[in-house]
Amino acid sequence: MAKRQKQTAPTPPPYPLALIAKPLLDWYQQNKRDLPWRNSPTPYHVWVSEIMLQQTRVETVKPYYVRFMDTLPTVHDLAEAEEDTLLKLWEGLGYYSRVRNMQKAAKQICSAFDGQIPSEKEQLLSLSGIGPYTAGAISAFAFGKAEPAVDGNVLRVVARLLADDRNVLDQSTREDIEIALKQVIPPDFAGDFGQALIELGALVCLPNRGEVKCAQCPLAHLCQAKAQGLVDILPTRFKLQTKKTEKKTVLLYTLGQTIYIRKRNPKGLLAGLWEFPQVASHLNETDMATYLQGKGIFATSIQKLPEAKHIFTHLVWDMVGYHICLASPPSFDDGVFVPISALKEDYAIPSAFSAYKKVCLSEDFIK
Ligand code: ADE
Repeated sequence: MAKRQKQTAPTPPPYPLALIAKPLLDWYQQNKRDLPWRNSPTPYHVWVSEIMLQQTRVETVKPYYVRFMDTLPTVHDLAEAEEDTLLKLWEGLGYYSRVRNMQKAAKQICSAFDGQIPSEKEQLLSLSGIGPYTAGAISAFAFGKAEPAVDGNVLRVVARLLADDRNVLDQSTREDIEIALKQVIPPDFAGDFGQALIELGALVCLPNRGEVKCAQCPLAHLCQAKAQGLVDILPTRFKLQTKKTEKKTVLLYTLGQTIYIRKRNPKGLLAGLWEFPQVASHLNETDMATYLQGKGIFATSIQKLPEAKHIFTHLVWDMVGYHICLASPPSFDDGVFVPISALKEDYAIPSAFSAYKKVCLSEDFIK
């Protein structure tokens, strides 16, 4: 006789998670925003929108999303797009590895999945750039599967509902929240349930002290943080790592109505994008003149530009800049002089340089 497997009873979801589905879904029906990716939540639409929404605000994403879909309406179009087209579609969104990974994944989908985005979380996780959140979102929002999609909004909502004070940046906290949510997803409304949690976090259960709108919350009567006066201090988020700061001097060399740009290294941060040349330290005006002299560069004028900072996930660029007017072509040739107006449309300059790109495109840049 076959041995009986010892059965362990699943742990029930912590109070009050089992009670949230109905009030949450009713609230979502009344309050959801009209967002372009919600009109027709195909797997491709959900995927592209969720990748764009990582680290980028909804209002910023909307026009990028619409333009991306107009230009590359299918997974095949994405797989076959030219790199310059992709970078231009992404210019200003930052974190360019997102779109490069999407193209890699599109190629994987064409070769290994016959061009069809898979519905199972495990298969989605095998694709480049797709982590647990995006896999859950595609599986639930596009295919209606009972999978949790836990982003920062959802972590905050659930940590408050449960008055859970564990660090939400720990993977183990996130995994526990995923397990608990998975048990309470209504099978017929998995997509709406997942989106409703995100929407509640985005519109009502807001992150900053004093901004949270408990009076409008459909779950306020269930919320354990509210009952215990903990709403303003939850969720707990500790980040151990501190960001490294790199100092830079950004050089805007102009020759008549043209400006000098060069391509970044094909590997690493902002790989393959166009940039203004830089020196890896802060130069004051005297240092700048000495630097140019040392390189045999003759400038007709050197103008100091405002300082700027750009914050990456792991790094901060602390920049000063100079506009250097040249009278004749210089000896360096790792880049090209292009018309200043071409920076607007033709070259993907990453957002890290947006303060200096703005200077170039201002009316009084070349007098
Ligand atoms: N933020 C992340 N995903 C989102 C979505 N699908 N809708 C609105 N905001 C979001």
